[in-house]
Amino acid sequence: MSESDARPASARRDLGTLVSVAWRFDRRRVALSLVLLAANGVATGLSMALLLPIVHALGSGRASTRLGPVEIPSTSLPALLLAFVVLAAAQAAVARASAITSASIQLRIVDHLRQQALDAVLAARWSFVLSRRRTDVIEIVTSGAARSGMAFFQLMTLAVTSVMAVATAAIAVAVSPLLALPALVGVCLLGVVLARTAFGPAHRLGREFGVQNRRLQSAMANSLDSLRLVRTHDAAGTWSEELATAFSGTREAQLANTRRTATVSAVSTVGLAVCAALLVQVAVGLDVPPASIVVVLMLVARLAGQVRGLTMTGSLLLNSLPAVGNLHDLVDEATHEAEVPAGSRSTRSDPDPDGTGPLVELRGVTFLYAGTAQGVRRADLVVPRRQVTALTGPSGAGKSTTADLVLGLLAPQEGRVLVDGEPLTDADLSWWRRHVAYVPQDTALIDASLRRNLTWSVHAEVSDEECWTMLDRCSAGFARELPAGLDTRLGERGVRLSGGERQRVALARALLRKPLLLVLDEATSSLDDETEAAVVELVASLVPAVTVLVIAHRRTTIESADHVVRIRDGVVV
Ligand SMILES: Nc1ncnc2c1ncn2[C@@H]1O[C@H](COP(=O)(O)OP(=O)(O)OP(=O)(O)O)[C@@H](O)[C@H]1O
Ligand SMILES: [Mg+2]
Repeated sequence: MSESDARPASARRDLGTLVSVAWRFDRRRVALSLVLLAANGVATGLSMALLLPIVHALGSGRASTRLGPVEIPSTSLPALLLAFVVLAAAQAAVARASAITSASIQLRIVDHLRQQALDAVLAARWSFVLSRRRTDVIEIVTSGAARSGMAFFQLMTLAVTSVMAVATAAIAVAVSPLLALPALVGVCLLGVVLARTAFGPAHRLGREFGVQNRRLQSAMANSLDSLRLVRTHDAAGTWSEELATAFSGTREAQLANTRRTATVSAVSTVGLAVCAALLVQVAVGLDVPPASIVVVLMLVARLAGQVRGLTMTGSLLLNSLPAVGNLHDLVDEATHEAEVPAGSRSTRSDPDPDGTGPLVELRGVTFLYAGTAQGVRRADLVVPRRQVTALTGPSGAGKSTTADLVLGLLAPQEGRVLVDGEPLTDADLSWWRRHVAYVPQDTALIDASLRRNLTWSVHAEVSDEECWTMLDRCSAGFARELPAGLDTRLGERGVRLSGGERQRVALARALLRKPLLLVLDEATSSLDDETEAAVVELVASLVPAVTVLVIAHRRTTIESADHVVRIRDGVVV
């Protein structure tokens, strides 16, 4: 993914996406949340309205007031105070329910968006994954999804506040049309000024923040991934400079946003004071009774507060919207690049164990990495059944790429991959993967227990007994010395093991899958001669149950194979 956001900027498009997400999500809960937000607003308004008769009653002990068309009957001060407390309690209860419902729906939407994005990425073609920066995906799915959740909440708040503002305006007009109408004009003008200050750059700043945040994530990952070298090459300075630049990028993007909202707040305070002063001046000139002036002033203050809230929320929404757009684009592109087309299922039966033809064949296969001339060209490769095939050649020749083609990770741009004599279609990929196991060149272990590392990719229950047997078969006797046995955590990328130990764990993990085809990509490169010989012997003993494709540079491994294929500059020779 590019560092600058390549997507055309469109707040409207992102807003449309957000509305459609909210609409499809959980309409019943969304509606409940809206109702609670509105009820909270009404209860707050009512407790404010009650202050007026209370003030009246302070002198005489009783009060009857007119709120536009609503006549409040004569009520004693204690009764009014009691009503005030009851109303406050009701408002508190509604506010509590509203906060919980809103948070719950917001968090659920965040999880829903995250899950959707991760599912799409996990199901996308390998070429799609290669084209994305890992940290960009993490940023979009973590902080981007959280910002999208906030955008959703801001959208709901905006909808409710708009309705409340219209209601407040209507009440003000009902109380005193003479006063309310010029006040409304003033508040509307204030709203326009605020919106112009707030909305202009909000969306652009939101995008900028996302870009800076992704840059920061990438710089952090790079520096932490290189920690060992940072120390040994005494190069911490390089990284701290780069990180400082990344920090200042996100800081500036956030500050620009804060400056803008602070300006909106300041302008609205001044605007409100001007509106109130003008209103009192006009009211005195028009001989409006003081009680109506107070009521209208209160209503206008409330309305101005709502208008200010609308602009603030609107600008925050615009600021969060790019995250919605980014998530949507990620899901959209990943779904578009789905490895197995939606709804398609393989109809193939398991490869015939007694079959005689090759298990896998590449026929005239070309695959070049996007924008390069690197990969493999017009490759013909036969992987005979129940044999060990060695694939060898210089570094960069295309061996790992060939393995990825055999595994169906990469799809040929030309030519065909045949499994069991039949072309491997997209719909067959899931079926094919059930029969293969792979030890990648960069032995991928995870920060979890040895047991989890061994079993997470096996689709059946695996007992501890089976784990130990397999570790022993793979010459991984060292595992018996680990402090907590199978429960020992291996650390990030398995740092707590040596390179050769990691390779043997990876081999055991692959074999626990009981595959038909085992692909080993330089899986013994870190082993000493003796251990390597034991592993080679083990691999040979897997035949005939397993067909093996082994990528290797070592003479001993190559010599032990039944069949050797050389590859040079992307061409099988
Ligand atoms: N993701 C990628 N994007 C672009 N080019 C790539 C990518 N992966 C590999 N290549 C290029 O494709 C060519 C073949 O790479 P491949 O990894 O298949 O080589 P290899 O034979 O496995 O090498 P080695 O023995 O060093 O592992 C190389 O020139 C490499 O630079
Ligand atoms: Mg390789």
